[in-house]
Amino acid sequence: MPRVFLVGAGPGDPDLLTVKAARVIAAADVVLYDSLVDPRVVAMSRAGARRIDVGKRCGRHSASQAEICRLLVAQGRTGALVVRLKGGDPMVFGRATEEMGALRAAGIDFEVIPGVTAATAAAAALHCSLTRRGVARSLHFLAGHGAQSGLPAHDWVSLTKSGGTLVVYMGGQTLPGLASHFIEAGMAPEMPAVAVESASLEGQRILRGTIGSLPGQVVGAKAVGPVIVLIGEALAEPDELDDLLLRAEAGG
Ligand SMILES: C[S@@+](CC[C@H](N)C(=O)[O-])C[C@H]1O[C@@H](n2cnc3c(N)ncnc32)[C@H](O)[C@@H]1O
Repeated sequence: MPRVFLVGAGPGDPDLLTVKAARVIAAADVVLYDSLVDPRVVAMSRAGARRIDVGKRCGRHSASQAEICRLLVAQGRTGALVVRLKGGDPMVFGRATEEMGALRAAGIDFEVIPGVTAATAAAAALHCSLTRRGVARSLHFLAGHGAQSGLPAHDWVSLTKSGGTLVVYMGGQTLPGLASHFIEAGMAPEMPAVAVESASLEGQRILRGTIGSLPGQVVGAKAVGPVIVLIGEALAEPDELDDLLLRAEAGG
């Protein structure tokens, strides 16, 4: 049985943890957690557990990631029950590859427990399916922030042509640049786009607009929590979506 667990802490609301995640958190001797993990989730560990804030934020220098890997391996070697808590799902923009690699290299067995990722938490908040037959047949998770800060080099034209729903993580700051790239790549400025701040949490805010208008709305909103951006026809208001569906069914 592994003694080290990479655990998805979900988008914030502790009720969105999996039963398995809640069980290992409660049993843990050591909990290493990121800045995006809700304090109520960390507090689910027992009073005697060692709680270590590794404060990993997106875009931070890789040396910090190396330190986290070293710490994880050092804790794993003690034989303690170690829970590495990561916001959302560990396998989605969570640097899980590095941590699993470090554990593997050290010969430490581990298990990954998935979590609710921000994209699906946002979809739930919006009451909006990210895929819709005839409207959005694919779903794309994109990083809105590159390793060297600024925008990653996405294939903007292919993404635009895909006609799928685009979900941008870590794109709150870079949205003006992202939107320009999509519009230059042929996306209509009227394409529905929505930003969700702090999905599932008390401070949740929803900004509805278009790819043309949303950057200005997001800047004006001065978000304090994490922001996820969703773009595509599937994000249209329900009555517009009904029209799109009718047209899709009619083959238009
Ligand atoms: C480093 S990524 C981690 C993603 C995480 N592993 C997941 O599966 O959700 C951080 C980004 O996730 C998104 N995010 C995480 N939690 C969120 C929340 N509660 N509401 C909105 N966006 C969130 C934001 O785009 C944020 O910049």
